[in-house]
Amino acid sequence: MNKILLSGIKPTGEPHLGNYLGALKNWVALQTSYRTIYSIVDLHALTINITPEELEHGTFDLAVDLLALGIDPKRSILFKQSDVVGHTELAWIFSCLTPVSELERMTQYKDMAKEKRGTSNAGLFNYPILQAADILLYKAEYVPVGEDQLQHLELSRVIARKFNQRYKQFFTEIKPVLSETVRVMSLHDPNKKMSKSLGPKSYIALRDKPDIVRQKIAKAVTDSLEGDTTLGGGHNLLTLFKNFGPSQRYEEFERQHALKKLSYAELKRELAEALIAFLAPIQERQAYFEKHPAEVQGYLAQGAKRAQAIADKTLEEVRKIIGLS
Ligand code: TRP
Repeated sequence: MNKILLSGIKPTGEPHLGNYLGALKNWVALQTSYRTIYSIVDLHALTINITPEELEHGTFDLAVDLLALGIDPKRSILFKQSDVVGHTELAWIFSCLTPVSELERMTQYKDMAKEKRGTSNAGLFNYPILQAADILLYKAEYVPVGEDQLQHLELSRVIARKFNQRYKQFFTEIKPVLSETVRVMSLHDPNKKMSKSLGPKSYIALRDKPDIVRQKIAKAVTDSLEGDTTLGGGHNLLTLFKNFGPSQRYEEFERQHALKKLSYAELKRELAEALIAFLAPIQERQAYFEKHPAEVQGYLAQGAKRAQAIADKTLEEVRKIIGLS
């Protein structure tokens, strides 16, 4: 098992069921078939408005959540990006190989820049270069990402190729790992993806307590029986039930939905209880780690040490190759 797989997650806001089904569930599963490296990318988080307290607490809370979900620090290298020296140095080297025109094509940047109307920072523009450095610093070959990150991954491949062409064959080709993930939509606006940027009522956080889960699901938007039932809120609730409820019950709901005879009140009641049951053991482990912060910090320190050893080796070779040694 020598295949290195790497992914990163920003410590901005609490993880929710959309993150879980879209990525984190896979992160846990992938640990059995790859050498997994998971990074809490705090340097990437600096591209958005975030206070020092939010960044510090967000990073710790995310580490707790990842451990509670089953990221095993003995198996995986779990670390904080800024703990490892080399990400930003490699990003600088890569920035000297990256055409500005490639960065200007990135849809995530264009969306952000539009939103910020001229106040966008250079970090947002260079974001994908740092991401390429995150991956190539560990010579990771496999990267599990959602569809929204495919363009960034393609740019990482372009950067690796540019390096190899200008200097010598050094970085291997990165391959996206498109595991079967589930797209969960916002609870109050089912046309949009479940996202922390849409506010707490749009998502169920991994930390939501039973009462909150019940309230949020009760208020979730459903489609009318007349409307397009393939995309609406009702379908989204069914998707959630499919992933967290008993499969036999799911099939019954699905049949009723197809016949337009589904009682959303009933679906919502059972869905809320299924989610609460799923979250209970995770929240128990969260509570444990929260009571043992030194243990969490210890895992991160140990992860950083292991990551640093790999990073040092790559950077030393890179420096030699480009004439900096
Ligand atoms: N940009 C990714 C996201 O928003 C996070 C990320 C940073 C990442 N570095 C990475 C993902 C390296 C995969 C590999 O989801």
